[in-house]
Amino acid sequence: MNIRNIIAENALAVFLKMLPDNIKTAWQFAKNNARCNNSKSESKSLTDILMLTHALEKAFSLPNPRKSFGLQKAISLLDKTERYIAKFGWNDSMTVPVSVLKEYISYHERSSAKSSEITTLERHLDKIVSSAMHSDTFNSGGAISVSGKDLTEHGHGNFEELASNRYSIRNFSSAAVSDEIVYKALDIAKKSPSACNRQAYRVHVFKGALKNALLKMQGGANSFYATADKVLMICADANRYYTREPRLGYVDASLFTMSLIYAFTYLGVGSIPLTLGIDQHTLDKMKRDFDIPANEIPVVLVAVGNYQEKFEVAMSHRNPVESFSKFH
Ligand SMILES: Cc1cc2nc3c(=O)[nH]c(=O)nc-3n(C[C@H](O)[C@H](O)[C@H](O)COP(=O)(O)O)c2cc1C
Repeated sequence: MNIRNIIAENALAVFLKMLPDNIKTAWQFAKNNARCNNSKSESKSLTDILMLTHALEKAFSLPNPRKSFGLQKAISLLDKTERYIAKFGWNDSMTVPVSVLKEYISYHERSSAKSSEITTLERHLDKIVSSAMHSDTFNSGGAISVSGKDLTEHGHGNFEELASNRYSIRNFSSAAVSDEIVYKALDIAKKSPSACNRQAYRVHVFKGALKNALLKMQGGANSFYATADKVLMICADANRYYTREPRLGYVDASLFTMSLIYAFTYLGVGSIPLTLGIDQHTLDKMKRDFDIPANEIPVVLVAVGNYQEKFEVAMSHRNPVESFSKFH
């Protein structure tokens, strides 16, 4: 091998070659992410509201919600919503947060758990909504009651029916999902497209104590991880990508994951994707503790389990197509 080729393959040389693009990307993201200049930007302030709305809404679908669950989140959401409206005025993005807050109050009323704090919250919310002179019917947030039988039947309908009846499940039954079913779902999902057909997705399946330990470490399933039967870690094999492609593995693994989630839905198995957008230290520890090879990049977890007979799912309202698309 000549000296040029030796340098081209050297880890330090490859690292230095990758730096300019990565510094540029990090700088662009630093300026545009939700934290930077958050309070000055309508769009970034809205992100805080969406996160709190989701955190409060998903609590309705957890096993045995506690009395007065989420009070601090509800107070914080109301506060941020009020500040947003005062600064940027009322717009359609406020409908879901207000709906979730209204449902939060109704839920406690229905279950005779309306504390004085929730009564104060209600008064405050009514004031904000009436001063924004808004008379919408706020029914775009909260939980929906579903049955395992209906979800399984919809899973066998046409694609539109399957997709519109898929929900993230946060309260599974105690019945196990067999390894054969997981294998079948993986077999269906492998038809996903991947860059140059490199098929760089890698999947690790955990159950029992390992499943619990992994989900505890992930941290976003604290109130329901014990009800899941298995968890799949979807990784991307870095060996399959070149220096200009550090994010391509995330794309391939994510496309695969969506197919996998639909495959589980089709097979009558409930699932939920769980973020691995966590700090690098925890991710490294996760790789060590769960025996993930160094060349694999953990992308996302998918917890799976069987449906209960009847249970609740978060409504997770979707915005209209016009709000996120532009036909050029
Ligand atoms: C990448 C990703 C990470 C997610 N992480 C979590 C999580 O940590 N905890 C959780 O309860 N839900 C998580 N979810 C589920 C989302 O909250 C859910 O998909 C969203 O609210 C839409 O609801 P739906 O899946 O029921 O349609 C995640 C979803 C995605 C796509």
